[in-house]
Amino acid sequence: MKRTILTVLGLFLISNSAFSQTFSNSLAIPSTLTGTNISLSIHTGTMAFYPGFSTNSIGFNAYNYLGPTLILNKGDSVHINVTNNLIDTTTIHWHGMHVSPKNDGGPHTVIPPATTWTPKFKVRDDAAMFWYHSHLHMNTAAQVTKGEAGLIIVKDPIEAALTLPRTYGVDDIPLVVQTRAFDVNKQFDALSAVDSVVLINGTKNPYTNLPAQVVRLRLINAATMRLFNFGFSNNATFYQIVSDGGLLSAPVSMTRLRLAPGERAEILLDLTALQTQTIYLTNYGSQLPNGYYGAANPAAMGMGTIPNYSSNAFNGTDNAILKINVVAPTASAVTTMPSTLTVVTPFLASQANKTRTKTFSPKVMGPGGGLNGPFVINGMSFDMMMINDTVPFNNIEVWNLTNNTAIAHPFHIHDVQFYILDINGSAPPANMAGKKDVVVVPAQQTVKFITKFDDFTDHMTPYMYHCHMLVHEDEGMMGQFLVWDYLTDIKKNYNSIESIKAYPNPASSSWIIKVDDKDPILGYKLTNALGKDVRIVNDLDLNYAKEIEIDTKELSQGVYYLNVYTKVNRGTVKLIKQ
Ligand code: C2O
Ligand code: CU
Ligand code: CU
Repeated sequence: MKRTILTVLGLFLISNSAFSQTFSNSLAIPSTLTGTNISLSIHTGTMAFYPGFSTNSIGFNAYNYLGPTLILNKGDSVHINVTNNLIDTTTIHWHGMHVSPKNDGGPHTVIPPATTWTPKFKVRDDAAMFWYHSHLHMNTAAQVTKGEAGLIIVKDPIEAALTLPRTYGVDDIPLVVQTRAFDVNKQFDALSAVDSVVLINGTKNPYTNLPAQVVRLRLINAATMRLFNFGFSNNATFYQIVSDGGLLSAPVSMTRLRLAPGERAEILLDLTALQTQTIYLTNYGSQLPNGYYGAANPAAMGMGTIPNYSSNAFNGTDNAILKINVVAPTASAVTTMPSTLTVVTPFLASQANKTRTKTFSPKVMGPGGGLNGPFVINGMSFDMMMINDTVPFNNIEVWNLTNNTAIAHPFHIHDVQFYILDINGSAPPANMAGKKDVVVVPAQQTVKFITKFDDFTDHMTPYMYHCHMLVHEDEGMMGQFLVWDYLTDIKKNYNSIESIKAYPNPASSSWIIKVDDKDPILGYKLTNALGKDVRIVNDLDLNYAKEIEIDTKELSQGVYYLNVYTKVNRGTVKLIKQ
C-alpha cells in the first residue's frame, strides 16, 4: 500500500503509520487495576510521538497518555478515588455503566484541581467493555484527545462459563483505536480534520505478536470524530461476540465491522492456521458509504464540505493500522468458537409507556450548515441549567431519533443500555441486536431504540444524552434528563419508623437525620409547608448510612416535612430552617 506524502496547506507533512508502513513500536497493553478500591490520579505528561518533540498529554497513574484498565466484577461495590492533578477542572464519566447520576461523572460532577472525587457504586452491568473519560462541558474533545480516557472490563459468571479467550494481553487484547491530528509543534489538535495519525493504546505505528489460536480483540473507537470500518488484510472472517454492553446471543460472523466514536465490540479471530504469517488490522475507509465521517465524502448526497477534510488522506482510503505477527500458540489455547453465548431479551415496543422524539438538525441552515455544525437536538443547544427531559422512574420508553443533517451522528445515552428496534424501518443487523449505548443515526434516517430507566433516580443530578463525536457534543449536541421517582406512589405499604432524630432542629446550615431502624436510609423527600416537594433523593447507592446530612443552605426559612424511607419502613419528621 504505497501512498504519496501530501503537503497540507503547505505548512506541514502528514506523517502516518499507514503511509510509512514501519510498524516498529510494540503495542502497549495498559496494565490492570482490580478489586473494590481503586485509585486514579489524572495528571499531565508528555509523549515522544515524534523524535525531537514532546507532545503534551494527559494520563492516569503511571501513564502519560490513557490510563490503566479497570477490571470489575458484576455485583461488587466499588469505591474509586479520582484525584485531579491537572491545573484544570475535569470530570470522569463511566461510559456505558449503569450507575446513579451522582456517580456517573457527567458535566455537573466536576472535580476541581487538587481535589479527589470518590464515587462508589455497585457494578450492575453484564460482562463487556466500558470506558472512562473526561466529560467536562465544552472541553471533552480537548481533554479526551490529550489522553484522558481508559478502559473498564466487567466480568460476570455468564461470560466466565463460556469457553472464550480471557488471558488479558495474551489472547484477550484491548485495542483503543484513535486517530489524532498534530500541529506544527507536534501538539494534539483536537479540532483539526487532518487526524491522519493512528494511535492504538497510545502506540503509534504499532505491531503485536498474537498466538496461533482463537484470540479475542476488544475494540473501541475512542476517536474524536471518525468512524472506523475494521477488517483484516487477509479478509479473514471474524465473529463479534459482545456489543457495547453485553454478550450477543450468538457469535455474528463478518469480514467488516463498523464502529463509531464511543462504540465497542469484542471479536473472535481464529489465527490457528496462520502461524509465522503476518496480517494487518485495517481500516477499510474506501468501503464506508458517503455520509459518514471517514468516508471519501462525509456528506450524504453532496450536502456540503468540512474544511481540510479532503486534505486528510486517511478519509475514504484503506489503511493498515496494526501489524499482527502470528506466533506459536500458548499452552492453554482456545481453539473453538462457541455456538451460542447468552439469552438476549429485548424489551418489546408494546411494553413502552412513552415514546420520546429527538430530532437532529444543524443549528444554522445555509452553506455548509448541513455538515459542519454546530448541531442541535430538538432545536436546542445544550444548556447546563436546562433539564430537557424528566423520565418517570421505571419507565420503558422508545426513543425515536431522526437525523435531519447531512452526516451520520453516533447517539449515546447515559444510565441505560438499550435495544435497537429499527434503523430506518429495518430490524438491526445481528451484531447490533444486543445491548447498546451508542447507535449511529445515518444522515437523513431514523433509529428507534427501547430501554428501561430503572434502579436510579435523582431529583437534582441529570444524566446526559449526546452525539459522541466529541466536537459536536462540545458544541451543544447534547441534552440532559432526570429520572424521577414519585416516592409516595411507589412506596405504599410501609410501616412507620418509630424514631427519627433530627438535630439541630431548628437548623441554619444542615440537619443531621438519624433513624432507629435496622436498615440504612435509602432516600428521602423534603416538602415545604405548602406541600410542595423541594428535594427528592432516591440515591440507593450513596446512602449506606443510618445517618444522613441534609444541607439547608439553599432552603428559605420556614417549616418543612421530611419523609425518610428505609427498605421497608418510612416516617415523617417536622423540621425548621432558621
Ligand atoms: Cu462516552 Cu456522555 O459519554
Ligand atoms: Cu456515557
Ligand atoms: Cu454528531
